[in-house]
Amino acid sequence: MSEGAAKKEEKPRKFQAIRGTRDLLPPETALWNRVEQTAHEVFATFGFGEIRPPVFEPTELFARSIGLDTDVVAKEMYSFFEGFNLEELRLEHARVALSRGPKENRSDQEFWQEVESAFAELPKGEFITLRPEATASVCRAYIERGMQQLPQPVKLYYMGPMFRRERPQKGRYRQFYQIGAEVLGGSDAPAIDAEVIEMVMTFFDRLELQGVQLDINSIGCPECRPRYVELLRTELLKVKDKLGPDSQRRIAANPLRVLDSKLESEQPIIAKLPRIADHLCEACATHYSAVKHQLEMRGVFFRENWRLVRGLDYYMRTTFEITAQGLGSQNAVCGGGRYDGLVELLGGPPTKGIGFAIGEDRLILSLQESGKAPVQQGRDVYIAWMGERAHATAIRAAKDLRKAGFSVELPPVEQKFGKALGQADQLGAKHALILGDNEVSEGLWTLKTLADGSQLKLPEPALIEHLRKNKVVSSGG
Ligand code: HAM
Repeated sequence: MSEGAAKKEEKPRKFQAIRGTRDLLPPETALWNRVEQTAHEVFATFGFGEIRPPVFEPTELFARSIGLDTDVVAKEMYSFFEGFNLEELRLEHARVALSRGPKENRSDQEFWQEVESAFAELPKGEFITLRPEATASVCRAYIERGMQQLPQPVKLYYMGPMFRRERPQKGRYRQFYQIGAEVLGGSDAPAIDAEVIEMVMTFFDRLELQGVQLDINSIGCPECRPRYVELLRTELLKVKDKLGPDSQRRIAANPLRVLDSKLESEQPIIAKLPRIADHLCEACATHYSAVKHQLEMRGVFFRENWRLVRGLDYYMRTTFEITAQGLGSQNAVCGGGRYDGLVELLGGPPTKGIGFAIGEDRLILSLQESGKAPVQQGRDVYIAWMGERAHATAIRAAKDLRKAGFSVELPPVEQKFGKALGQADQLGAKHALILGDNEVSEGLWTLKTLADGSQLKLPEPALIEHLRKNKVVSSGG
């Protein structure tokens, strides 16, 4: 077989994005940018500053914060061992083998002891995890960077990718994006809870997100919740046979999660279970009613949902979730709650905390479904040039137009005017600036408006002013 034939058979692998990940492309990315820009603006008006924590952290940080029995930690984290690499291992093998010397005068046991001590000298490795969420990271940073010394509370927000090994479907990805915020400090005043929620609602309002529904609940504190959980477990055991396998399993490990069940057959059973609102301690009950009052004072509409328990272990007292239109079964666009005690659990000082995270992918989906997606923006000007002299003029014109804020397409090689105009059309350009020998020597440029085919001649200095006026008219109409 000839070399050429062999090469032909060897088809290069076609790479695809990993399941549950995707490329975000224009024009959709323009919407992502608008959403993120709006978040920067709205959150700043509430006095929040941006934090950019790392994308990976020690596995233990998430395991401790989120909880070992949660789906996120038990099943969904991307973790790997970092420490020594294969090359180091190989070198160590070689060193041990050499140290035995040419004449073996050691027992097997001695040999293995030697190997063991050699490995003990290697740098210790660590399990690290791609962050499945960022609350734990923000708390870690609060402690590590001594933020308790700053004026309290510390108000931080973040945006970026998170990673969970979930079953991908519409609105659920393995790399997804969150926009979140956290308030950390000494106070758990109900007005803080209400203001954090008000901030998300203001943000959604600014984006004109449709069908927004805010659900709130209080899940008590370490004093009253265990009593309620026990009561719930006792009641669930009585109806165990009528529950599905998932809920049956949860009775022992985490009975609160049974309340999350969407299984049709379980709904009438769940409706009869005891409700946490009736079992809150006095402090929690007072806090909860004050949060509701504070929300009312801010004109924030909410629905109380006693079944809203959230899937992460660090929550206490206030929990909330926001759903929006057009998302199908994955309709939670934001989740959050209070997590007093988490900073302490991570080795920091006693600290109160509350926050939320918005699923940006879902937010975008919902905006698109309700027709808020931007249309592909065509170029303002396509410069059709012919001839060397015109090329130089075209480069200068492109520079000036871009400086004035217009988007410009400057073809890299000369083309016949007919072909150039066809391409300008394909790119959705509003205008074609035609530069040939005549235009350059006369100093009068031809500007064609592609929508109606009209053409006019303009001296160079008048071009930008003309386009500016035109832009105001077209965007205002
Ligand atoms: P979470 O409920 O796990 O809370 O996630 C918040 C939001 O992230 C969800 O409501 C959803 O919109 C989005 N989300 C979660 N998983 C996926 C996924 N696989 N694909 C697409 N979107 C997803 C937290 O993460 C907490 N850290 C929120 C928080 C901050 N609580 C207090 N402070």
